[in-house]
Amino acid sequence: MTEANLGNGQAERALKPPLAMLAELTHRCPLQCPYCSNPLELTRRSDELETEEWADVFRQAAALGALQVHLSGGEPTARKDLPALVAAAHGCGLYTNLITAGVLLSRDGLVELAAQGLDHVQLSIQDSEPVGAERIGHLQGGHARKLAFAAWVRETGLPLTVNAVVHRQNLDHLEDIIALAHGLEAHRLEIAHVQYYGWALQNRAALMPTPEQVERASAVAKKARADLRGKMVIDYVVPDYHARRPKRCMDGWGNQFFAVTPRGRVLPCHAAETITGLGFSSVRERPLAWIWEHDEAFNKFRGVEWMQEPCRSCEFRERDLGGCRCQAFALTGDAAATDPVCEFSQHHEALTAVAAGGCEAGSETELPGSESRFVYRR
Ligand code: SF4
Ligand code: FES
Repeated sequence: MTEANLGNGQAERALKPPLAMLAELTHRCPLQCPYCSNPLELTRRSDELETEEWADVFRQAAALGALQVHLSGGEPTARKDLPALVAAAHGCGLYTNLITAGVLLSRDGLVELAAQGLDHVQLSIQDSEPVGAERIGHLQGGHARKLAFAAWVRETGLPLTVNAVVHRQNLDHLEDIIALAHGLEAHRLEIAHVQYYGWALQNRAALMPTPEQVERASAVAKKARADLRGKMVIDYVVPDYHARRPKRCMDGWGNQFFAVTPRGRVLPCHAAETITGLGFSSVRERPLAWIWEHDEAFNKFRGVEWMQEPCRSCEFRERDLGGCRCQAFALTGDAAATDPVCEFSQHHEALTAVAAGGCEAGSETELPGSESRFVYRR
């Protein structure tokens, strides 16, 4: 680290328009993945934004300058009005991406979404084979339905991204997961290591990969990237707990992205509600443009002025923006702390111990949950 000039914070930066919006249409979902990014307390159907409310949010997002909307959940296809929502987003000129588990929609339903202007499908898979996949997702028959759905996506001519969340229980199957995605004719495969907050933190003992697993998987991903160059793009990043420096999470808090929850709360990060003590405005109370520019939660960690040491005087602060705020809060109780993934954080050693499986019972780094059992969301 070196001393660097301060005073180049958000006040002196021009606020850019957002690039993308995550629309969490519902928390309802037939799957119960133990690393679900939804909050521990799920929104009821009766509290969800209505069709017209979502259509208005899409109009406001497009007017603000957003280019893409990711239609997500829970499971967005649980909403009967999804064709109308796709049409509304498409009508505002937004690029529409459906993030789905692929187990609820029929072939006709998918054709209808394509007709309404759907641009892209992102399908989650839990493992390379049904037994593991259905144990992780907690839905019998789910894997076969996903494979059928993927074939329909390709038949309709929509581009397909496969998203595989990886962890201790499936990381050794990475070669097969890659082969499966390639066989499904995915354009892109996102291999995403679990992020430990919310449900995943409850299940950390069962999900945390060993250092040996991570090393093998990184080599598998590297080789597959080279072998499949020009055929399928593979995104793979070394998991946080096994890294020495944090990633620039969300490309910066309130910088390019916002999420809208099923009940209309607007968040600078999809997991921001895990940070207790932060209040969030709702599209039911405030215009989206006001929230983007003035909301306290959005401005709290924009830029670098909020930083404490060691980030505050670190030469890398503009590059990684101090890492992930949600992870800093989950592991230290202070959302303004340096992300413990960073080797300069006073909590880094404890994190390394967790990654190595060496934490002591009763210590603050003790792994929540059990190594063999999942705590499923209901
Ligand atoms: Fe520096 Fe903070 Fe980034 Fe660590 S997280 S490299 S201390 S800016
Ligand atoms: Fe929220 Fe990183 S997941 S800031």
